[in-house]
Amino acid sequence: MKVMVHTPDVLEVLTEGEEETRDLGSLLARVLRPGDVVALQGNLGAGKTRLIQGIARGLGITRPVTSPTFVLMNVYPTGKGFSLCHVDTYRLGSPVEEGYDLGLDQLLRGEDICVIEWAERIRPLLPADHMWVEIQEVDEHRRRIILQGTGPQSRARVGELAKTLEHISDSAAGDV
Ligand SMILES: Nc1ncnc2c1ncn2[C@@H]1O[C@H](COP(=O)(O)OP(=O)(O)OP(=O)(O)O)[C@@H](O)[C@H]1O
Ligand SMILES: [Mg+2]
Repeated sequence: MKVMVHTPDVLEVLTEGEEETRDLGSLLARVLRPGDVVALQGNLGAGKTRLIQGIARGLGITRPVTSPTFVLMNVYPTGKGFSLCHVDTYRLGSPVEEGYDLGLDQLLRGEDICVIEWAERIRPLLPADHMWVEIQEVDEHRRRIILQGTGPQSRARVGELAKTLEHISDSAAGDV
C-alpha cells in the first residue's frame, strides 16, 4: 500500500488487492480505542467488508467476519472488555428511523468499537466525533481509501495511523 496524501485533515492510502486493504484495517485497529466509531462509505464491492476483516484481525478476533446478511449487525467480543460491532445498514428500508428504533444511536455512543457499512445512510445517528472512511474503486484491484476525523479524537487516530504507516514505509524502504 502507498500513502498518497497526508495532511492534518486527511490521510489517503492506495491499496492493491484485498489483502492490502485487510492489512490497512489491521493497522487501523492498532490505533482504535473502545468507544470509537468508524463510518465507511463505498459502493457495492468497494472493499468495506475487507477493511473490517482486517480490523477484526488487528483486534485479535479469530471468528470469520462476513457481512451481516439478514441482521443489522454482528458483534465480535475481543476478550478485552469491549466488542467489535459490525453494522451494515444496507438492508434497512428507512435507515435513520429504523436505526433509531433499534437503539443504534445508543450503541454508537457506547464502549464498543463500531464499524458501519453504508454509514452515509445513518449519518444523523453518528456521534459528532467519528472517523469517516471513503473507499473508491480505482480499477479492478486498486482502491483509494480516504480517512478523515470529524472531531479531536478521530483526528488523533488518523494522525496515529499516518505515523504508523510512515514508520513502516521507512523501515521497508518504499511501499508499506
Ligand atoms: N484493493 C482492494 N481492496 C479490497 N477489495 C478488493 C481490492 N481489489 C479487489 N478487491 C475485491 O473487491 C471485493 C470487495 O468486497 P467487499 O465485500 O469487501 O466489498 P463491500 O464494500 O463490503 O461490498 P458490499 O457493499 O456488497 O458489502 C472483493 O471481491 C475483493 O476481492
Ligand atoms: Mg460488505
